[in-house]
Amino acid sequence: MRDYAIAAIPGDGIGPEVVEAARAVLEECQRRYGFTLNYTDYDFSAELYRRTGRKVTEADMDEIGAHDAVLFGAMGLPEVRGPEGLELGAQVEMRAYFPLFASLRPVRLFDGVDGPLKTDHVDMLVIRETSEGMFAGLADHHEPSDEEASDRMTITRAGARRLIEVAFDQARTRRRRGTPGHVTLLHKSNALRSNVLLEKVFDEVAAEHPDLGSAKHYIDAGAMYMVLDPGRYDVVVTENIFGDIVSEVAAGLVGGLGVAPSADVSLDRGVFQPSHGSAPDIAGQGVANPTAMILSAAMMLDWLGGRHDDERCLRAAEGIQRAVEATLAAGVRGPDLGGTAGTAEVAEAIRASLPQVEVRA
Ligand SMILES: NC(=O)c1ccc[n+]([C@@H]2O[C@H](COP(=O)([O-])OP(=O)(O)OC[C@H]3O[C@@H](n4cnc5c(N)ncnc54)[C@H](O)[C@@H]3O)[C@@H](O)[C@H]2O)c1
Repeated sequence: MRDYAIAAIPGDGIGPEVVEAARAVLEECQRRYGFTLNYTDYDFSAELYRRTGRKVTEADMDEIGAHDAVLFGAMGLPEVRGPEGLELGAQVEMRAYFPLFASLRPVRLFDGVDGPLKTDHVDMLVIRETSEGMFAGLADHHEPSDEEASDRMTITRAGARRLIEVAFDQARTRRRRGTPGHVTLLHKSNALRSNVLLEKVFDEVAAEHPDLGSAKHYIDAGAMYMVLDPGRYDVVVTENIFGDIVSEVAAGLVGGLGVAPSADVSLDRGVFQPSHGSAPDIAGQGVANPTAMILSAAMMLDWLGGRHDDERCLRAAEGIQRAVEATLAAGVRGPDLGGTAGTAEVAEAIRASLPQVEVRA
């Protein structure tokens, strides 16, 4: 059985705090499940740019890309900006360079967490497109102006097809774990030409998967249903900026960003990071909730296990899920969830709750 090379990028703000917490849980998983992760650490951060002017280069990307997976904390500080006025974010550059086209953002309302709604059932996967859509023009020629500025929404048939195929694949995989096996497209084809094509491609792919359910909602109505009736959603797939927004609405339904993991993937690469950013308002206080990062690490193990047919990683990913469930159900919660536990205490509770199994290859 092979070992895995992991590029670790802690980043800014709470990024290093939650990455350290996740690595402690992963270390315990390695001991219990018998696999090996070999880390290379990379200091890519807005803080580094502020101090030295150093940005991520193509050579850095190539080096990172030679790893089996990337474990990413968060990058960006609102006051640190490049010459164009935009923030620095290696996550955005990695999406473009590799390119990673789907951001998988699962949300689940865990026992022990009080969501803002009356329902106690939220279990959905929001898939945000990340290579085109409303971010398609990021590299377009741009004349700085104080009078007019525009962005570009472009959707290609190839981009839409690979995204929607991932959505149906994910629905099928999730169904094996007890979810309904259903995909909903959130779109705006009543007003945006790009979304007419997106809807057309969705219909084509849906017809190829008659064993799975499907639905389409306009993004505005869908945003309302997400709050009023989140139980109707299993897999939700949508364009880049819509996904950016509704995935955080979905995170809000289950207690906030502290419990919302994510994975940016292509067919052969994966960057695993929480949905949250660097949270400068709480950085350095030891109170960041590491659960989202730890669940992102579980997604990394699940992805590695699936790609390399490695039962050790698959079982460890499942073990982390069970440990998070047990920790929250036992009332160990950070301030973001109304509790008092700090980052280290939550991570230690999750580590200690990992199932007692020995699976040696
Ligand atoms: N993928 C990324 O690296 C990423 C994603 C989003 C934002 N950012 C960057 O992060 C910086 C801050 O952005 P922001 O404030 O809009 O979003 P944010 O996600 O960092 O924080 C939003 C709110 O959620 C809270 N929060 C976030 N994660 C938490 C956690 N694990 N535990 C407890 N509370 C948590 C924060 O304290 C804050 O109140 C910006 O520079 C932004 O560009 C980076």
